[in-house]
Amino acid sequence: MSEKLIEVVDNAGVVRLTINRPKALNALNSGVLHELEAILVELEARKDLRAVLITGAGEKSFVAGADITEMREKTPEEARVFASQALRTIKRLEALPVPVVALVNGFCLGGGCELALACDWAVASDNAIFGQPEVLLGVIPGFGGTQRLPRRVGPAMALDLVTTGRKIDAQEALRIGLVNQVMSQAELETYADELAKQLTGNGPQAVRAAKQAVHDGMDQDLDSALALETALFAFCFAGDEQSEGMGAFVEKRKPNF
Ligand code: HXC
Repeated sequence: MSEKLIEVVDNAGVVRLTINRPKALNALNSGVLHELEAILVELEARKDLRAVLITGAGEKSFVAGADITEMREKTPEEARVFASQALRTIKRLEALPVPVVALVNGFCLGGGCELALACDWAVASDNAIFGQPEVLLGVIPGFGGTQRLPRRVGPAMALDLVTTGRKIDAQEALRIGLVNQVMSQAELETYADELAKQLTGNGPQAVRAAKQAVHDGMDQDLDSALALETALFAFCFAGDEQSEGMGAFVEKRKPNF
């Protein structure tokens, strides 16, 4: 049997995906993208899903971009199909109802940076390098970078990065808000464990509602978004979680969600 291109480890609903093509610095080819989409279709159906973490195999690279050798011979129509299929997959990742976090453990370039941008947030190891170097190859980002990067770091910084193609280190990525935290590779592992513990300790419906409020609200005017928050806040009182959470506080015990 051929080796999986994405390793999946499931720990009580916290699913860790590891892109596993270290010899090509985990570049995204059609095989990886198809495998990712199939995994996401399964995850979408899971009621017990609590969080998704995504990383790259090895200590050198998260994802060094879309696979250049595969893209090299594409016609414009083939390029359009490739980009739109990948966009659909990446959108699926973004739209999962639980927190999706990129553990950026090295090169995070081109399609890799765009994959990280589709995650709810990213944390990086101190050797991580970020960039949208597509212009150096005579193309532009095609996995959402021209749209998600300005939304995350602002249009001026995004334009700097997508037109110069310059690479930035983890500290600069932190400064511009591309990542939330920077740490060593070893700390990245601890972070993943701690995050899993934190998220699984919280009310699962509340975590989903919090993500939904932020995601859906970002696409709306403020008044509509605030009304959405109110509706989701009230919805939290309809299940068991709120009475357990608030009851546990009053009774000075840990909640059991
Ligand atoms: C295919 C890649 C690759 C990529 C690295 N490799 N990146 N293969 N696609 N994106 C392969 C190399 O060819 C090499 O294979 C092996 O991985 C190790 O890479 P090296 O270059 O030898 O390593 P190093 O010298 O350390 O340089 C690392 C690097 C460099 C700076 C990350 O590999 C690099 O610049 N890669 C390309 C980065 C990039 O331009 N990404 C954007 C792609 S366009 P061999 O067989 O020689 O050992 C994109 C568009 C997305 O992502 C939208 C599409 C619709």
